[in-house]
Amino acid sequence: MTSVLESPAPVTVRAPAKVNLELFVGPLRDDGFHALSTVYQAVGLHDDVTAALTDDWGCSVRGRDADKVPTDESNLALRAALALSEHTGGQEPVHLSIHKEIPVAGGMAGGSADAAAALVACDALWGTDVPKDELEGIAAGIGSDVPFLLHGGTAVGSGRGEVVTAVLAKGRYHWVFVPSLASGLSTPRVYAAFDERTAGTTLEEPQPSAALMSALRSGDASALAPVLDNDLQADAIGLQPAIGEVIESAMGFGALAAIVSGSGPTVAILADGAEGAIDLAVALTACGVAGDVLRATGPVQGAHILPTVRQL
Ligand code: C5P
Repeated sequence: MTSVLESPAPVTVRAPAKVNLELFVGPLRDDGFHALSTVYQAVGLHDDVTAALTDDWGCSVRGRDADKVPTDESNLALRAALALSEHTGGQEPVHLSIHKEIPVAGGMAGGSADAAAALVACDALWGTDVPKDELEGIAAGIGSDVPFLLHGGTAVGSGRGEVVTAVLAKGRYHWVFVPSLASGLSTPRVYAAFDERTAGTTLEEPQPSAALMSALRSGDASALAPVLDNDLQADAIGLQPAIGEVIESAMGFGALAAIVSGSGPTVAILADGAEGAIDLAVALTACGVAGDVLRATGPVQGAHILPTVRQL
């Protein structure tokens, strides 16, 4: 039996949420996914995942929306840990304690962040030291956004979103997020609405836009605002019209831009500086259009180990 002193200390990893600055959807591929060109930005809302050795695989969830997160093997963090164990020839079971700050089913990749955090935490806990490209491969098998959450910063996602390439981006952007609409939108449902709407049209292979790249190089939020774009926005609003009302209100209160994040329903609002973000958050809450408002800046780093103090 391993003594407390011999067994490795639990490892805690912090992973960010994402917003899609641009999301262009191309044709449906043979594997059932759409070709995508997206520009992700990691933002400062985080989930923390602590991996500890134990006798049985499992996970527990606390924090925001904890009751909406499964703790069986459909949990993305647990799936990621099991996939890494299998990839490395089998490892000791872990318990994952997940602390959530990222809205669940909101289009901000909360589940994918947990998966990315679990990969980094388990790799460190087991001492498996898996090379970065292999870890990204395992991440891609869990979900299209997971490799980006390992990477962080601002990056282009191509393929089905899982092929990540860093972009040159300056500046710090102030975001307000409105997640609290009645229920989440399922990603496959939004893509299905997109398919229905675009049936009969020929979709081009999507490419990142030069205008967005140039705005990101300028580091100027007011240059970024007019070029934010999301091909799924109309479909998300079609399924949940309240999203459109949040966007209109945010623009009325002086937002630089307001856009659906990913497949929604979260609305990402770009503010003019930190004070602008506070003003928008207050105005949106006070007028009753948003029950719940979050603020964060981006870009931030991807999944990373937090220093821990060992308890003896
Ligand atoms: O990979 P991820 O878990 O994010 O995908 C969830 C669902 O979203 C997929 O099963 C698919 O229906 C849809 N999707 C898609 N094309 C993509 C990414 C996701 O159709 N590029």
